Amino acid sequence: MDTILRCEHAAFHYPDTDGAVLHDLSLSIERGSFTAVLGHNGSGKSTLAKLFNAILLPDSGKVYVDGMDTSDEAHLFDIRRRIGMVFQNPDNQIVSSVVEEDVAFAAENLGVPPDEIRRRVDDALATVGMTEFVRHAPHLLSGGQKQRIAIAGVIAMEPDCIVLDEPTAMLDPAGRRDVMQTLHRLRNELGITVVLITHHMDEALQADRVVVISDGRIVLDGAPGDVFTHCDTLASYSLSAPETVLLLSALQDAGLDVPLTAMTPEACADAIAAALSE
Ligand SMILES: Nc1ncnc2c1ncn2[C@@H]1O[C@H](COP(=O)(O)OP(=O)(O)OP(=O)(O)O)[C@@H](O)[C@H]1O
Ligand SMILES: [Mg+2]
Repeated sequence: MDTILRCEHAAFHYPDTDGAVLHDLSLSIERGSFTAVLGHNGSGKSTLAKLFNAILLPDSGKVYVDGMDTSDEAHLFDIRRRIGMVFQNPDNQIVSSVVEEDVAFAAENLGVPPDEIRRRVDDALATVGMTEFVRHAPHLLSGGQKQRIAIAGVIAMEPDCIVLDEPTAMLDPAGRRDVMQTLHRLRNELGITVVLITHHMDEALQADRVVVISDGRIVLDGAPGDVFTHCDTLASYSLSAPETVLLLSALQDAGLDVPLTAMTPEACADAIAAALSE
């Protein structure tokens, strides 16, 4: 596998606190993949995200970005350029009063020349579907639009990978849908690796791989069609399966012959219709 991010036996605790937040955590993320990370509040997801671009360093074990050890300061600039981060609150990520300046900010800090910045900003705004807002004021946009501007700013850095920590948590359904569509476009059209931390099972369902963290350890790891059929195991980590799986499971209990693996809303509807017509 061509690995972009790798944790090897990483452990982490915050200064002046008891107990580790991450325990002996090992995880490899394949280049070009779309991975969802799930876990109950306080399980260590945001901490893990911060290890991925050297905002935090492991107490023991190693984290590698494209083979570069994050604890080696000589690689810091390169690591930050390759791993873009997007956080939950879009308002905290706005740095300018005009969209195009906001999108250009991080790339300018990397020393990208002005004519190249112009191209990157235009391309990034097109990718997130926000071209018409180029001269708007970011703080007047909707939450979903602000989050897409934040993503455009990361794309303008031309990263290999984008790590998003609950980017849709503060958005309405339309904003969530637009952000998810944008993430698929990044992965499918630009080949950017996506790591999405989320509390929304329907978003995790759209990933290639789902990693479940509990108490700083990986407890489930697999394709959504595999991980989400373990309803009882998920419940033991205070997580629920997607609504489609819960419905299919209840129908199975009631005697209907439907597969739990029909997880998308469309597949679920088809499976129920097929079972009812038998
Ligand atoms: N700066 C900090 N100092 C001390 N403890 C912290 C700090 N940040 C987080 N923690 C603790 O570390 C643990 C893991 O926190 P983290 O934010 O990584 O979890 P999370 O899975 O992202 O949670 P959430 O779903 O609420 O975002 C929690 O017990 C939290 O209280
Ligand atoms: Mg968090």
